[in-house]
Amino acid sequence: MANFKFPDNFLWGGAIAANQAEGAYTEGGKGLTSVDLLPSGEKRRGFMKGDISSLTPLEGEFYPSHEAIDFYHRYKEDVALFAEMGFKALRVSISWARIYPTGEDVVPNEAGLQFYDDLFDELLKHNIQPVVTLAHFDVPVALIEKYGSWRSRKMVDLFKTYSETVLKRYKDKVKYWMTFNEINMLLHLPFLGAGLVFKEGENIKQIQYQAAHHQLVASAWAVKTCHELIADAKIGCMLAAGSFYPYTCDPEDVYQGMEKDRESYFFIDVQSRGEYPGYAKRFFRDHNLDIVMEPQDAELLKQNTVDYIGFSYYSSRTTSTDPEVQKNMTSGNVFGSIANPYLSKSDWGWTIDPKGMRITANQLHDRYQKPLFVVENGFGAYDELTSDGDINDDYRIDYLKRHLAELGEAIQDGVEILGYTSWGPIDIVSASSGEMSKRYGYIYVDRDNAGQGTLKRIKKKSFAWYQQVIQLGGANL
Ligand code: BG6
Repeated sequence: MANFKFPDNFLWGGAIAANQAEGAYTEGGKGLTSVDLLPSGEKRRGFMKGDISSLTPLEGEFYPSHEAIDFYHRYKEDVALFAEMGFKALRVSISWARIYPTGEDVVPNEAGLQFYDDLFDELLKHNIQPVVTLAHFDVPVALIEKYGSWRSRKMVDLFKTYSETVLKRYKDKVKYWMTFNEINMLLHLPFLGAGLVFKEGENIKQIQYQAAHHQLVASAWAVKTCHELIADAKIGCMLAAGSFYPYTCDPEDVYQGMEKDRESYFFIDVQSRGEYPGYAKRFFRDHNLDIVMEPQDAELLKQNTVDYIGFSYYSSRTTSTDPEVQKNMTSGNVFGSIANPYLSKSDWGWTIDPKGMRITANQLHDRYQKPLFVVENGFGAYDELTSDGDINDDYRIDYLKRHLAELGEAIQDGVEILGYTSWGPIDIVSASSGEMSKRYGYIYVDRDNAGQGTLKRIKKKSFAWYQQVIQLGGANL
């Protein structure tokens, strides 16, 4: 990337989510959320898919979100460290159940509102822009109990009230918003993505796509409200991105790759173009899905499209129609990918593909012609403290450096990128495994998978590296 510098107004920073960082799960009047029901260990994966029998925490299980890294009490110290690295932006999410503990309280919870006021003030004090996701996986449990979460249309009204409350409250402090984190996760981990729980014999596809419609309508309401209330704000969608590569040039593989990408694009096509694409309508017909839509929905979706496309990128995916090839899947990737023989993997089986960042960014740009925002990217890895108390995470630096270099290439290709907030700038709880040992941070947190540790924060080698990247606008990549 010789002689290339990222734009001066580029939003360098990091991204965390309430449920993986805050802890304090019942403090300040917060209600229980879906993620508070996800233990670490073996049960977690089944629960995330919607196979969960109890909506209260179980005896004898460890729930990592309950304390997480205690960001709720320690955010000032953490924000100061982000500021030291030179962050221009921090992506956080608001926990719906901090604001409306049961999801339908008559009056919002002032303690919850005040917490985010304080957090945003602290960020702004350090000239860090808050980039706020309205829903990052956590649904109030009371709404799962009463309405079955997003399977019910009622959720649209409740989300509308919640989003209006926070958009109004923070309109002078927050200028970058996002509606649903990784909205396409609903199809892969439906409890994690949308609080959906299934009963034996139910038509899961029907429920998922009905829930998806409700989220899409709720997202459009949030966009409308944001545009009406905050003239100078931008509000985006958020896709778990990473293009599918066909395993061979057999047209059957190529077609399948396209279809798999469309499974995810489906959501963004509606949020960005404002209508259901033809392939989605055909999919509904072919699978006998009857999605109930209200007459005014089409107009609402059409009129309230997003300003930018936020996306996470961790890896590309590979697909094949050959049953023999299909036997060689990578573990740990929720999107189900065949192992790509040209690429290596992380300890959790996630494919490492820096070039895929450039490919994905270009494809999203070609498809939507809107600014993009890389709101997650990073390398989950085991870190070791040396006897001197250092963490030499050269593997992380290598991953990030190569991905950022490809992002720089994408910018030179003509793709407009608003910013880059790497995932977990401070170690937080892993969403998919519930582990602390899957670390992404520039800042180490002394806490283990069983919740033991002092919670002390320690700078890793990557801390100074990222600080320099930001300082030089990526000129050192
Ligand atoms: C994304 C999520 O799926 O990937 C984050 O938006 C998550 O919440 C991140 O933490 C990394 O995944 P994991 O499972 O390694 O934490």
